[in-house]
Amino acid sequence: FVVDKANYRHFMAKEIHEQPEVVGHTLARYLDMGAERVALPAKLPFDFNDIQRISITACGTANYAGYIGKYWFERFARLPVEIDIASEFRYREAPLRKGDLAIFISQSGETADTLAALRYAKEQGLHTLSVVNVPTSTIARESEIVMPTLAGPEIGVASTKAFTCQLTVLAALAVAAGRARGELSEQDETRLVHGLIELPRLMAAALATEHQVERLARDIAKSQDVLYLGRGTSYPLALEGALKLKEISYIHAEGYAAGELKHGPIALIDEKMPVVVIAPYDRVFEKTVSNMQEVAARGGRIILITDAKGAEEATVESLVTIVMPDMDAAFTPLVYAIPAQLLAYHTAVVMGTDVDQPRNLAKSVTVE
Ligand code: G6P
Repeated sequence: FVVDKANYRHFMAKEIHEQPEVVGHTLARYLDMGAERVALPAKLPFDFNDIQRISITACGTANYAGYIGKYWFERFARLPVEIDIASEFRYREAPLRKGDLAIFISQSGETADTLAALRYAKEQGLHTLSVVNVPTSTIARESEIVMPTLAGPEIGVASTKAFTCQLTVLAALAVAAGRARGELSEQDETRLVHGLIELPRLMAAALATEHQVERLARDIAKSQDVLYLGRGTSYPLALEGALKLKEISYIHAEGYAAGELKHGPIALIDEKMPVVVIAPYDRVFEKTVSNMQEVAARGGRIILITDAKGAEEATVESLVTIVMPDMDAAFTPLVYAIPAQLLAYHTAVVMGTDVDQPRNLAKSVTVE
């Protein structure tokens, strides 16, 4: 069927704005909303108690979704997770344990390296579970278990709504794993599921910052380099924010764990370098504030994405503060992804690049 841009200038804008809705559809498939319980769409052919380690493999944006998923599985289920880039996983002969779980994440379900990694894990006797947006894809067909994302067709080359739907599925799976392993109580599950159910409303609130982000983009468009910092689950999101910006605006951007700032990127900071700090008011917030102070002391221009409490507590002069709604700290990446996507999008629009079809990139990378 035909997918059109509705009233949007680009597919990417439309897809960013669709997120509250498609995350809502995905949640409806993975949760029993009334009972506030996780209800996976497929029965798992293994018991999470028999899994010693999960390996998550993907490319690009899907890999960053997996990286956030790692934090959730480790925290909710106390399950060690290895996250790999598919092109590394398939060749590095990692020792894998038969009967363990390998998760593959792919919007298209056709990425050559991810598919090869899946085949390798199968050969090694692992359970294979794929989180895919195209249910008829090769990766979906070859996986033992398929956990679909309900993002609908994603046309923009730079992934947006598939990413937040991948996060939705991983969050539900991690809560299910935590319950199965007795690491989460029934009350914990209720609290977390409640946090998930709130997401579409919170994502809609995050979209309301668009005008502010658009103004900021005019400034970012003048930069040569942009640094993104975050800690905890905001770290992989910083990687994703930087990837989005470089993919579509061609401005060099790097994501870094905030704690690594002093091990390298701090050398680059001057008054020309915008630093996007993703820092909800969570248990690592204070640590990130001290990194922001290091940036400010060197004249770096800070764009802080935080919540009301964080905006109040951040004792640093920031260039711009983008305030996200208050929410369960566990799931902030789904909401904070939105200003990061909008910033990349509007910067690219200012730059006049081909937002939906950026040069040299392909939507689906079916060759190595
Ligand atoms: C390409 C796309 C990215 C995507 C990556 C993985 O590089 O441009 O947006 O994240 O492939 O694609 P997949 O379909 O496996 O998620």
